[in-house]
Amino acid sequence: MFQNNNIALIGFMGTGKSTVGRALAKRLDRRFIDTDSLVELTAGMSIRRIFRELGEPAFREMEARAVSKACALKGVVIAVGGGAVVSPATREALRLSCTVVLLTARPETILGRMGRPGDRPLLEGYDPDGTLSRIRELLRSRAAVYSECGDIVVDAERPVEQVVEDIVSRLPHGAAAGDLVPPQDHSRRHANRCIQVTIPSGSYRVYIGHGLLSDRSAAVPNPFKNVRRAFIVSNPIVSRLWLDDVRARLGEAGSAATAALVGDGEDHKNLLSVTRLYDALVGEEHDRDTVVVALGGGVVGDLAGFVAATFMRGLRFIQIPTTLLAQVDSSVGGKVAVNHPKGKNLIGAFHHPECVISDVGTLLTLPDRVFSEGVAEAIKTALVGGEGPFGFLEQNADRLKAREPAALQAMVGACVKIKAGIVSEDERDTGKRMTLNLGHTFAHALETACGYGTVSHGEAVAVGLCLATRLALMSGIADAGLLARVTDVLRHYGLPTDPAHLDRPPSPDEILKSMNLDKKRRLGRLRLVLPAAVGDVRVMEDIPRTMVERLLKS
Ligand SMILES: NC(=O)c1ccc[n+]([C@@H]2O[C@H](COP(=O)([O-])OP(=O)(O)OC[C@H]3O[C@@H](n4cnc5c(N)ncnc54)[C@H](O)[C@@H]3O)[C@@H](O)[C@H]2O)c1
Repeated sequence: MFQNNNIALIGFMGTGKSTVGRALAKRLDRRFIDTDSLVELTAGMSIRRIFRELGEPAFREMEARAVSKACALKGVVIAVGGGAVVSPATREALRLSCTVVLLTARPETILGRMGRPGDRPLLEGYDPDGTLSRIRELLRSRAAVYSECGDIVVDAERPVEQVVEDIVSRLPHGAAAGDLVPPQDHSRRHANRCIQVTIPSGSYRVYIGHGLLSDRSAAVPNPFKNVRRAFIVSNPIVSRLWLDDVRARLGEAGSAATAALVGDGEDHKNLLSVTRLYDALVGEEHDRDTVVVALGGGVVGDLAGFVAATFMRGLRFIQIPTTLLAQVDSSVGGKVAVNHPKGKNLIGAFHHPECVISDVGTLLTLPDRVFSEGVAEAIKTALVGGEGPFGFLEQNADRLKAREPAALQAMVGACVKIKAGIVSEDERDTGKRMTLNLGHTFAHALETACGYGTVSHGEAVAVGLCLATRLALMSGIADAGLLARVTDVLRHYGLPTDPAHLDRPPSPDEILKSMNLDKKRRLGRLRLVLPAAVGDVRVMEDIPRTMVERLLKS
């Protein structure tokens, strides 16, 4: 069984990887991703233009990155660019994470399937006879690598449905059924939940369910019925996985929608991306009737939310969180922000969404590492919330790690309920809401000290939770039992528990230096949120600096 239970289709151009891939994904109820289009969306230009302006080596590098990203997903069908397997690193990534299906066809069939062969960069400039010889030559040169990687070799000269059924019948046990990623569980699709967040200026709903985006049946109410015009913000990979569904649901509601993509990752949560989004809004002549829809993880949500808060003094905003972290935490509560080179989330606002649509089905494709980062925020919220949610996380690690939709719904629901209750009491983060910053003073310092993008937010939070609990123990408000429970539960989900576990561990001095910039510093003293027990998290103003130094240097 392959690590991520993906199915990759490889083969020469024209063998039908995209058509078969899309049909296979539909047949197996999985998401489909095409690495060529991922390259184009990431680069913001066509493959032909990349070849012309940057050359083939630059394209191959981008292609290798795209394949590596696609391989990190779980349970998806991937159409891999024809020449990508020439790279040994790509072959290794495919070998580890996918069942690899090689599609074959004769050179004459391949030529016949290409509308305009000259549009393909590797066939550009050949006459019809020359094109056929060139296809034969390329096939010969790739024959060895194609046969080295293909776990299953399929004759793709037949109709698409036959090719798909042939692949399905030959997939190894478990790959078709999706042992690692549960197949869409139709029986639970409509057991949706709705949690109300009440704030002084009004209230909004958080819908939590399975199939909220993809299920078109009347049983799932369309969340976009009050949207006339939408500006969807997403990133290349999430847009490949979910944008069509979101567009379809907006279309059903009679809304016109355009989409703008931002780069993937924390590095892009900055004012440059904000400016590009403003430019797109201005260019497309959006006005105050437009609703900004954030489709993605916490980075997209924070960024799109900041744009919504500031463009024309505020646009309506809908969150569609697609990572666990975003579903359990960042999509609820109205904090939106971008980073400044000197600190995380330094430029921000409070701007609540008018609704949040959390489809746990989106979590099934999350790379393991991203998934466990979300668990870190869930553990934090549960530690604030009390024995019920914390015990659920302790006792259901196997179900949650297997991403059972019902367990995911329960976890997201529990965390949203805790956060909604706290935000309703303290919207502006001046009292009880500060307890949700548990572990975050350390986490932000770790992220700044390591450099954004080096350590993920979730990993930093996990280490931050342990540091906060160790400090609580040193200051005498917590006991060793609490530290053992916090450390154990984080370990169960594969999360780091000490700065030394991080990829490039920062020194204690670097962490301390970064802590001085944290927004939670007040009047020169460090204010810290510490857990005294499960369900008893306190904001402490009087922790001596020397104790923090001792903790980090111990
Ligand atoms: N506003 C708040 O209250 C709040 C709270 C906590 C964290 N945050 C912010 O959230 C951000 C971190 O969010 P994150 O962990 O979601 O990171 P992220 O948005 O970068 O997403 C992590 C990765 O998962 C990918 N991804 C997203 N959805 C996917 C899906 N369904 N399938 C496969 N891949 C998918 C993304 O493309 C990305 O590569 C940080 O910037 C942090 O500051 C904000």
